[in-house]
Amino acid sequence: MKQNHTLKEIVPYYRTYKRKFVTNIALIILRIGCVTLIPLLTRQLFYFQPDHTWEYLGWVGGIILAIVGMVWCSYEIIRVGKEIGASIESDLRRDLFAHLQKLNFSYYDTHKTGHLMARMTNDLGTLSGTLHQLPEDLLNTLLTLLGALVVMFWMNTPLALIAILPLPVAVWMGIRSKKKFKMHSHRIRADIGRINSTMENSIMGIREVQSFANEAMQMVEFEKINRRFCTAKFDLAKTAASYAAFMLGFMRVHGLMITVAGSLMCVFHQLPIADLIAFMMYTRFMIMPIERLVSFSDQYAQGLAAFERFAEILDTQPEIKQDPAAIPPEQVKGALQFNQVSFAYDGTDRTVLNDVTLAVEPGAIIALVGESGAGKSTLASLVSRFYEATTGRILLDGTDIKKQPLYWLRQQIGVVQQVPFLFDSSIRYNIGFGRPDATEAELREAAKQANILEFIDSLPEGMDTMVGEQGVMLSGGQRQRISIARVFLKNPPIIIFDEATSSLDNESERLMQEAMNHLFKGRTTLIIAHRLSTVKHADYTYVFREGCIEESGTHDDLMAAEGYYHQLYMQGQS
Ligand SMILES: Nc1ncnc2c1ncn2[C@@H]1O[C@H](COP(=O)(O)OP(=O)(O)OP(=O)(O)O)[C@@H](O)[C@H]1O
Ligand SMILES: [Mg+2]
Repeated sequence: MKQNHTLKEIVPYYRTYKRKFVTNIALIILRIGCVTLIPLLTRQLFYFQPDHTWEYLGWVGGIILAIVGMVWCSYEIIRVGKEIGASIESDLRRDLFAHLQKLNFSYYDTHKTGHLMARMTNDLGTLSGTLHQLPEDLLNTLLTLLGALVVMFWMNTPLALIAILPLPVAVWMGIRSKKKFKMHSHRIRADIGRINSTMENSIMGIREVQSFANEAMQMVEFEKINRRFCTAKFDLAKTAASYAAFMLGFMRVHGLMITVAGSLMCVFHQLPIADLIAFMMYTRFMIMPIERLVSFSDQYAQGLAAFERFAEILDTQPEIKQDPAAIPPEQVKGALQFNQVSFAYDGTDRTVLNDVTLAVEPGAIIALVGESGAGKSTLASLVSRFYEATTGRILLDGTDIKKQPLYWLRQQIGVVQQVPFLFDSSIRYNIGFGRPDATEAELREAAKQANILEFIDSLPEGMDTMVGEQGVMLSGGQRQRISIARVFLKNPPIIIFDEATSSLDNESERLMQEAMNHLFKGRTTLIIAHRLSTVKHADYTYVFREGCIEESGTHDDLMAAEGYYHQLYMQGQS
């Protein structure tokens, strides 16, 4: 459900930095005092009398002090402000990251990595900019404007009226330009998103692109978007240039009007020249705040949009939660049971698993086989509660897994994925991920059990060898064995082994088989097999077809029945 958000919700994030925030406000007030004082003191210099030299020097000293005060305050305001912004940004990012760690697989199935990355970086950057600038700028602008107006009216009311008369024109022009700005910026942002996702797709798929020799096609596609982005920037440049030119002209004309009116007043002795000079200085203070005020609404809208995207993620609750009343059992035997389990992925109404009932005795090796897309990997992911069964129950040692602590449950299960994921780090990190506190000896033992130690030792940097993004620097078989070593280190009582579909060469196959046999010993094992010859010796086999169990039995039973399994087996042999 989409909720409406306001920037007020961000207030709790300010609380931690309350002291700094208050300090900054005080500094802003002090700075405005200094700024307003300078023209007033300057005005005094014109009333110099030759026998009052000390007084004159006093005024000059006062001006210098006010300038120093203004400079120091400006430095502190910017420094403290940016510190508050950066601190809040990192707090927001921490909360977002922590939340993303909890969201379920189903969330990641439907949300693009690139977009989530943009949330973590660009959006939070925009948000933090708005957060620390908005309140300070608003206060700064309003007080500067107010100070200037009060002094100007106090000095000469008719001239002050002449000075503020043309301001609505500047405001109107500013609002018009901002609207155009917003439109173009929106286009630019959308184009950046497209450029990023095209780049991400092409770079991630560069091997595919090059092997199909599709570079030219990719280039044409990219160039189209790139050009469009460029045109949007041209339009933005036009708007920016016309606004800047207008403001320049406006300031000059505004200055001229005051000079004409002021000089006539001086000539006719209505206004001392000193007041005119001070007055001119104040009019300069008015233009800048007007420009800032005009961009506030825009900045606020941008900040709010970024915040809404941030809050939208925090609003997404993980569907799979831990039952607070769940207590971890003392012992795990490893009996698994599926009772009439059905399942459909979120957002689809196609049932991927249909009324599946099966049982696995503790310590047994059970094979799940069947055609591609039959739902075998899906069934495996239900056991770890990566997804929740739509109907039916899954029991571990007779207890519904929903009634067991989620973290505890996942600790009991070791999964070797069909496409194992390796982190872009060292082999040591990748194996150690199974149990981060493992000793070097334990790491080596796990690698040995997985039949990968010899290979690791043959590398010049051994365990410290970097594997590259998603393990690209290793062969498919090596990646699989590293992910097996990781599970050895975890040492769970239940194993789910999703065999890779890509076939391995004979030597890798032998090494894998040995590693698998070690791994399965004494543990409840679900093995999803694509080559039926690898699971001939399983204790029991379930044959899946379109989400249902078509047949089940031992290899010999199923062969004797000459049904679907027999057919699949014979296909594999030919
Ligand atoms: N994350 C997902 N979101 C939506 N549908 C999915 C998702 N993952 C898989 N599916 C669909 O669910 C069905 C079962 O997929 P599953 O991966 O369980 O098949 P499988 O039996 O493991 O196949 P294979 O032998 O090819 O690995 C497929 O039709 C697939 O398109
Ligand atoms: Mg699969």
